[in-house]
Amino acid sequence: MTTNDPILKVENLKMYFPIKRGVIQRTVGYVHAVDDISFEVRKGETLGLVGESGCGKTTTGRTILQLYKATEGHVFFEGKDLTKLRGEELRLMRRRIQMIFQDPYASLNPRMTVEQIVGEPLVVHGLARGNEIRERVKQLLTMVGLNPAYVDRYPHEFSGGQRQRIGVARAISLKPDLIVCDEPISALDVSIQAQVVNLLEDLQKELGLTYVFIAHDLSMVRHISTRVIVMYLGVLVELADRKALYDNPLHPYTIGLLSAVPIPDPFVEEKRERIILEGDVPSPINPPSGCHFRTRCPLAQQLCADQRPEWKEVEPDHFVACHYWYNSKTLKRR
Ligand SMILES: Nc1ncnc2c1ncn2[C@@H]1O[C@H](COP(=O)(O)OP(=O)(O)O)[C@@H](O)[C@H]1O
Ligand code: SF4
Ligand SMILES: [Mg+2]
Repeated sequence: MTTNDPILKVENLKMYFPIKRGVIQRTVGYVHAVDDISFEVRKGETLGLVGESGCGKTTTGRTILQLYKATEGHVFFEGKDLTKLRGEELRLMRRRIQMIFQDPYASLNPRMTVEQIVGEPLVVHGLARGNEIRERVKQLLTMVGLNPAYVDRYPHEFSGGQRQRIGVARAISLKPDLIVCDEPISALDVSIQAQVVNLLEDLQKELGLTYVFIAHDLSMVRHISTRVIVMYLGVLVELADRKALYDNPLHPYTIGLLSAVPIPDPFVEEKRERIILEGDVPSPINPPSGCHFRTRCPLAQQLCADQRPEWKEVEPDHFVACHYWYNSKTLKRR
């Protein structure tokens, strides 16, 4: 069940990667992968996180999990700042937040059996031993819709969809509260994407999980999300309830993303103008001044180059970072 209580709070988070050159590996600049973002994840919800490739989604997920040490900012989980935790305290917290990865081929060790892969977190955290592990892994396989008799098989013996199920079994093995699902269906055949989404939804209900669900286009999170965040070049541009985001998008970038989603109706398709989102995403090494989106924005004015737009709640529970969001109504939608 979704409530308004936050389970996770991200505050002014920045993750800059140093760029090193030369023999002495001098730092010559930074990749501004995540550049000052703040948001909350509510208990029981699925928060979609969407943006084009390279905009910082994976880095956001990994920084939340403390797989990267944040350059600046805070990540509060049930009120505790994860960026400040060390040693045993961090290890205990880590059990409760897990990640599912995009590529079910690359993320599973090919030399480990299913029992070893799914059971590893239990061993590392000292939660099961010997035969217990095997039994627990069998239960987990059943929970994700795999035959428990497969415990001794290796990843290459499974299809893409089955491998992703193994990744899911591993992620739920420690009974986490929050799972960051990093494009869990992007690498799968369209025909099996829905099955994996359905599995994640069933597990969410059964286990009371909260998800951050990352995707590179809005069509993939439409079905599953409670709320959706749109990210562009390291920053958040819009956050709203699913319905508000799709029916009433306010940021020019969101409108552009929505107009890029193909509509299976030839009549609508013909009338539609794909005016927005020309050109490429600029480099996060030197993002544009002011609003990061200004080099591609049809509404851009001088102020957009001079000042970064504030992250503002312009309608209840609807946040947008744009100086001229009220003008976005003039943009052609679909
Ligand atoms: N470990 C890293 N070291 C240096 N640069 C990185 C690293 N990880 C990601 N980046 C860069 O940070 C930016 C954001 O990457 P990423 O978070 O993977 O985006 P997304 O998941 O949205 O595709 C990209 O420009 C990427 O090249
Ligand atoms: S702040 Fe300016 S450049 Fe950025 S999205 Fe709004 S109108 Fe476009
Ligand atoms: Mg990614």
